[in-house]
Amino acid sequence: MCGIIGYIGEENATDRIIYGLHKLEYRGYDSAGIAVIDGGALVRFRAQGRLENLEAKIKGKKTGGTIGIGHTRWATHGKPSEENAHPHTDCTGEITIIHNGIIENYFELKEELIKKKHKFASETDTEIFAHLIEENISKGFVKAAFAALKRIRGMYAMVILYSGEPDKIIAARKGSPLVIGLGRGENYVASDVPSFLKYTKKAMFLEDGDVAVITREKVDIFNSGKKVKRGVKEIKWSAQQAEKSGFPHFMLKEISEQPQAFEDTIIDRISDSSIKFENIDPEKLKGINSVRIIACGTSYHAAYTAKYIIEKYARVNTVVEVASEMRYSSPVIDKKTLLIAVSQSGETIDTIEAFKSIQKKAGYSIAVVNVVGSTLSRMLDGVIYTHAGPEIGVASTKTFITQLAVLYMFALYMARVKGEAGEKFMKDGIKNLRMVPGFIKTILKDKQKLENIAAKYCGFRDFLYYGRNVNYPMALEGALKLKEISYIHAEGYAAGEMKHGPIALVDDKTPNVFIAPENALYEKIISNIQEIKARSGTIIAITNRSNTTMKKFADDIFYIPDIEEDFYPLLAAIPMQLLAYYIGVKKGIDVDKPRNLAKSVTVE
Ligand code: F6R
Repeated sequence: MCGIIGYIGEENATDRIIYGLHKLEYRGYDSAGIAVIDGGALVRFRAQGRLENLEAKIKGKKTGGTIGIGHTRWATHGKPSEENAHPHTDCTGEITIIHNGIIENYFELKEELIKKKHKFASETDTEIFAHLIEENISKGFVKAAFAALKRIRGMYAMVILYSGEPDKIIAARKGSPLVIGLGRGENYVASDVPSFLKYTKKAMFLEDGDVAVITREKVDIFNSGKKVKRGVKEIKWSAQQAEKSGFPHFMLKEISEQPQAFEDTIIDRISDSSIKFENIDPEKLKGINSVRIIACGTSYHAAYTAKYIIEKYARVNTVVEVASEMRYSSPVIDKKTLLIAVSQSGETIDTIEAFKSIQKKAGYSIAVVNVVGSTLSRMLDGVIYTHAGPEIGVASTKTFITQLAVLYMFALYMARVKGEAGEKFMKDGIKNLRMVPGFIKTILKDKQKLENIAAKYCGFRDFLYYGRNVNYPMALEGALKLKEISYIHAEGYAAGEMKHGPIALVDDKTPNVFIAPENALYEKIISNIQEIKARSGTIIAITNRSNTTMKKFADDIFYIPDIEEDFYPLLAAIPMQLLAYYIGVKKGIDVDKPRNLAKSVTVE
């Protein structure tokens, strides 16, 4: 987590860095800070809390420097105070550093440095790095930085300035993301592309072990003692996509963008009866007899939905696992196993690390990611991009729907490769996918109804969500969205599990949200609803428009368009996002930046 940005050029560095930090604030908002070199000296401002607090501090004191660094923090070591806010400096105040990650051996290094009379001003692991550089600064900035890097263990993206050499920024990456934005007579280095997208679309993604020496005119990259080259990518996202564009929140904007995002994700990959993926080798899939999908959070829920569809369509055994659990288990993986990573950011450390331990054992591996050039997109054998565009709201919405789009297409594709799907089957599946964007638009037009439901229930303290089969992962996702952005306790269950425990929670104070379209399991789910009604429970149902019976059972109903039953999750996800959104807003929560969360989780 943490957002970091460095700028070197001809423009006012404070302006460029503050702009960039606004685009990175989704990565953490416990504190923010900036350091620039002005007239040969380092000038530093830091503030606890949101970026606006830092801006208030800088107001009227802006510096004229054209080289600087900035940081927005998600606290790991040390509480979210001004002392612990980055940038940190050495004893002389000439070397300053921002960092995303964890220096694991910081404690022993700190003890060693204290013995050498270094004085520390914070509780962070980061600060020791500025002092480690100070130890060797007489040999020059670059040599001192390399020497310091050799001493540390852990994960990091670091950006460092030294006022004695004000013509360069040094950046280093191991585990945490760093991308360089290449401008004309100016360069950027940041955790993520939107921070500089307004100024340049040319990006160079650093790899693990890379150290970059960045000047106004050039970028030299070193790895394992040798100079290396990294490719330049043209970013297709527009700066406009990372603006609110009149919406009150990014989250509502991103929910509303889902028809387009879905369309963008499927359109170039489908024809009337076939599906193609640009970076996937179908030959490698022929011998596959099991699929293992690994992901976290919302991406895990997309993966869980895919399990049902891949098994049904391609008849291949599919296991879905939370990455942080998978990493420390002993999975049985062989050359007939296909691994799939699902990750919006492509930088989630749990997912990356889970793959490191098993990737070589598998027959083939595919990343489903949104961020072009991200670690997972480069690490696995194949990559399928979700074309959601930049997602700024901390809670995933449009990236979730585009992950589902990719995974449904993949299930059909795999079914074809495995000889399980004929032309008619493919045609029908693709036809259903094509209908989704229009149906999402219909749901969005009805959003006032969800706002009304939210108004009725926003005072409740616990919610339960239920679904069966493909709609069960949607129950998990509905509950997660509500927890994240309304701070209401919510749990998702397979509806059939209700009588095995959760039914004990039923009372008139706990609304029960059922994803209950008329499908093969409709009667079963109606029985579950009846069991709750019999115990004075309240029912909010999401069902299909042509359903005429639900009104007998539910207290509130939201209707979604009728679609073939396997495809309901692609529509049911939307009202759940909107319900959580409106409840969060009604509770006065900053839904784009809910407490304690960060969008990209790059620490374990
Ligand atoms: C929830 C949410 C998180 C992420 C999770 C994985 O709204 O955004 O649960 O889904 O942290 O992140 P990625 O997909 O970037 O690996």
